[in-house]
Amino acid sequence: MSRVNFGAKPLMYPQPVLIIATYDENGVPNAMNAAWGITTDFKEITISLSEHKTTDNLANRGAFTVSLATEDQVIACDYVGIESGRKVPDKFEKAGFHATKSDFVDAPLIDELPVALECKVKSFNDGILIGEIVNVSADESVVTDGAVDVKKVKPISFDPFANAYYGIGEKVGNAFKDGAQLK
Ligand SMILES: Cc1cc2nc3c(=O)[nH]c(=O)nc-3n(C[C@H](O)[C@H](O)[C@H](O)COP(=O)(O)O)c2cc1C
Repeated sequence: MSRVNFGAKPLMYPQPVLIIATYDENGVPNAMNAAWGITTDFKEITISLSEHKTTDNLANRGAFTVSLATEDQVIACDYVGIESGRKVPDKFEKAGFHATKSDFVDAPLIDELPVALECKVKSFNDGILIGEIVNVSADESVVTDGAVDVKKVKPISFDPFANAYYGIGEKVGNAFKDGAQLK
């Protein structure tokens, strides 16, 4: 194998495309795109964030939702990653999103994105947001036999090598099971 070096860069694939939604102090919803996030415990999510309208809102409200971006909403999901609610107060509406308040936290769910983690802020220090996952909800249209069906959700991933979004491919295995063949 002959390797090509790219230096010290955040190049990892797949990365999630997370849409963080918050309310501001007046109850106006906002959304932003974040790829530097991952679940870090059973009830915990960690996301690396710079200063945004979203971080202003997190400080005010102490809560957020994280929706999975989808193929059907790729334009809106990218838009909320390249425009700031600090400059465009009706950014959420311009994205074509509609908000429904979460029953669990003081943050909006995005009607157009079917799967969301509903979270309370545990801490935000040195650009690292840690949230407590209070609930996960999914629109019934993407639930089959009591579980979220990712084939119906059609989530997307972020490719930082080429700044591209990809759909999710075919199922290729069973987790916690296939490896047992080699035990
Ligand atoms: C694909 C993609 C991934 C992004 N990931 C992050 C991220 O992980 N952390 C971050 O602080 N900003 C990230 N951004 C940038 C924010 O989404 C962007 O600055 C946005 O305008 C902030 O919105 P707001 O000011 O309305 O909160 C990303 C943008 C895109 C397009």
